[in-house]
Amino acid sequence: MRIGVLTAGGDCPGLNAVIRSVVHRAVTGHGDEVIGFEDGFKGLLDGHYRPLDLDSVSGILARGGTILGSARLERGRLREAAESADELGRKYGIDALIPIGGEGTLTAARMLSDAGMPVVGVPKTIDNDISSTDRTFGFDTAVMVATEAIDRLKTTAESHQRVMVVEVMGRHAGWIALESGMAGGAHGICLPERPFEVDSIVKMVEERFARGKKFAVICVAEGAHPAEGSMHYVRGEIDQFGHERFEGIGNHLAGELERRLGKEARPVILGHVQRGGTPTAYDRVLATRFGWHAVEAVHNGDFGKMTSLNGTSVSMVPLAEAVTRLKTVPENRMFEAESVF
Ligand code: F6P
Repeated sequence: MRIGVLTAGGDCPGLNAVIRSVVHRAVTGHGDEVIGFEDGFKGLLDGHYRPLDLDSVSGILARGGTILGSARLERGRLREAAESADELGRKYGIDALIPIGGEGTLTAARMLSDAGMPVVGVPKTIDNDISSTDRTFGFDTAVMVATEAIDRLKTTAESHQRVMVVEVMGRHAGWIALESGMAGGAHGICLPERPFEVDSIVKMVEERFARGKKFAVICVAEGAHPAEGSMHYVRGEIDQFGHERFEGIGNHLAGELERRLGKEARPVILGHVQRGGTPTAYDRVLATRFGWHAVEAVHNGDFGKMTSLNGTSVSMVPLAEAVTRLKTVPENRMFEAESVF
């Protein structure tokens, strides 16, 4: 068989581990040929690809980013790809395509699959917000990076008796904020799923200071926003790729807390540092398992599906199921964390 693989959307730690695993399983396990399209669906449409053999994936397991490059593609070009799905398959002589990506990529994968291309998706995102899978690789690494940041911020906050507001990624789902906030023992956590009351955060910080604790760390997801009338905040605009560009809730909240508390507050925006660098052992293992199962799905003719983690097992779920809604943080997880505002 000849299998095409590509990585699309925002990158995340573990993409190279999937590519390596696909090549290893396909070449060694089945005697297949693998080609890698460059820069996501752009490579598929524009004919930019290269053969991937065992040598070309040697040494990439622990490397962040993606050796194939990644890009977000406008909807119009995706439709173009779907309309010529048959032709594209013939052009490259591929028997199957394995796109690795987040919600947008999996939606595109579904479009191609509906148009007749044999597709097996692999979900990825540091945000962990893809439904139909318990986890996505990249998330564990992002949580580790954010947790380390909270640990570090606590010591400097304490030295200066400051409030630190650390903003982590997560536009629509607050998984990174929830888990890094819990792991780092943040005193406040703000999620996109629940508008927060600034008054409650002010009260919590005042009570801490009254108890002799002279600092506080608030972990806020980039998509979190204040409850109506709780603080002036304008949501961001939608960019040309359909993403909301936030004004920076971390900066706003730190400024507001400083004004209301009369104590120094500092914002720390972690940004893309959460997406860069080497994946954790957990993410390497999950990515490797997903790659292995994707190739097996190709050989079983299990198309129009994506790999999924269910408890501890990897199974295949229909792409149609996975891309209908985002997996957001449920109420019961917020209760367990205790410090969600
Ligand atoms: O979806 C992953 C993600 O890291 C989001 O958490 C974040 O809002 C977004 O990507 C940033 O994307 P970009 O690479 O376009 O800045």
